[in-house]
Amino acid sequence: MDAFLIKKDDALLDYWTPGKLDLAEVTSYFQKNYRVENLFEQGRHITGILHEEDETYFLKLATSPGISILTQNEAEWNKSVSTQASKTDTITIPHVYEAGYFQKKFFYYISEYLQGELLCSHTDTRNQSALLPEFENIVQAAELVTTFSFVPSESNLYAKSENHTSYFKDRALRWLNGIPEQIRSDYRVTELTGVVDSGAGSLDKRTRHGDFTPWHMMKLGGGKLGLIDGEHALPHGVEYYDIAYFIQRVFVVLQNPDVAKQMVVLLLSKGYDKEKLRTVLAARGVGGYLDVSLSGPEADFSLANEFQNFVKTL
Ligand SMILES: Nc1ncnc2c1ncn2[C@@H]1O[C@H](COP(=O)(O)OP(=O)(O)O)[C@@H](O)[C@H]1O
Ligand SMILES: [Mg+2]
Repeated sequence: MDAFLIKKDDALLDYWTPGKLDLAEVTSYFQKNYRVENLFEQGRHITGILHEEDETYFLKLATSPGISILTQNEAEWNKSVSTQASKTDTITIPHVYEAGYFQKKFFYYISEYLQGELLCSHTDTRNQSALLPEFENIVQAAELVTTFSFVPSESNLYAKSENHTSYFKDRALRWLNGIPEQIRSDYRVTELTGVVDSGAGSLDKRTRHGDFTPWHMMKLGGGKLGLIDGEHALPHGVEYYDIAYFIQRVFVVLQNPDVAKQMVVLLLSKGYDKEKLRTVLAARGVGGYLDVSLSGPEADFSLANEFQNFVKTL
């Protein structure tokens, strides 16, 4: 699948398909410096809880060389912005203490352990109207992220600065090309890429988190939101990306179209530009069709389609 390939040193690597690591070997590697309380096989990553004296740490270890590239980006994102975030009352981004490679090819980092409940799980498709009273804080967090300075290292996937408009348009096109031909034409997905093409030029360049969802946010003490999983953080994102992504996830993954629509109404009442919002939502709509296409033979496009219709009526 072309949409999930990235280039490193002229090799094309898959950052989607999980690999399999031996948990006993992982444990013994990290036991050299930490007490390993628990390891979890999360799919693309192994995560863990580590201790050193009275301190608790979080471990995130990539299970393939392709995934490592994004996990490295996440570690650099955390390193770049955790101090900037700590100066605010809005969000906490885990501080990274250590990073390296397990068995020379599997990237890992060890960070601050955040104590708190996620806003919800990605499988929690019950009524999510409880997200609405949180939405004001979530919007504030998204706006704050756009102001962060994220400087990737020389060896980072995003070391080379790219034009934000071309990057944004190119992504939507890659998502489109990943959708099976029949689905693309049955659902006229190119209507969405048409919206992207005509609106992209008016979107300003902004830092983005890239996977801004309720299941990557934790309620912490003092009214702060913990923000994790910055694998897709980008210095050359476009404005509105994170908040539009959030809304599309609530709509189709949490299967809460009504809550998502209320969020759009709230943004418009705050003075958000409708055209810009429609453009970013349209790009996410294309991504939504790709997500469903990859979900297997039982793929159900009804919510992706409902989202598309909603975007068109905006
Ligand atoms: N800094 C942290 N402190 C505590 N728990 C964390 C932290 N980061 C992630 N987690 C836990 O690990 C889970 C997986 O992390 P995530 O970064 O979303 O991994 P993935 O990229 O594999 O989706 C989260 O749902 C959360 O429960
Ligand atoms: Mg995650």
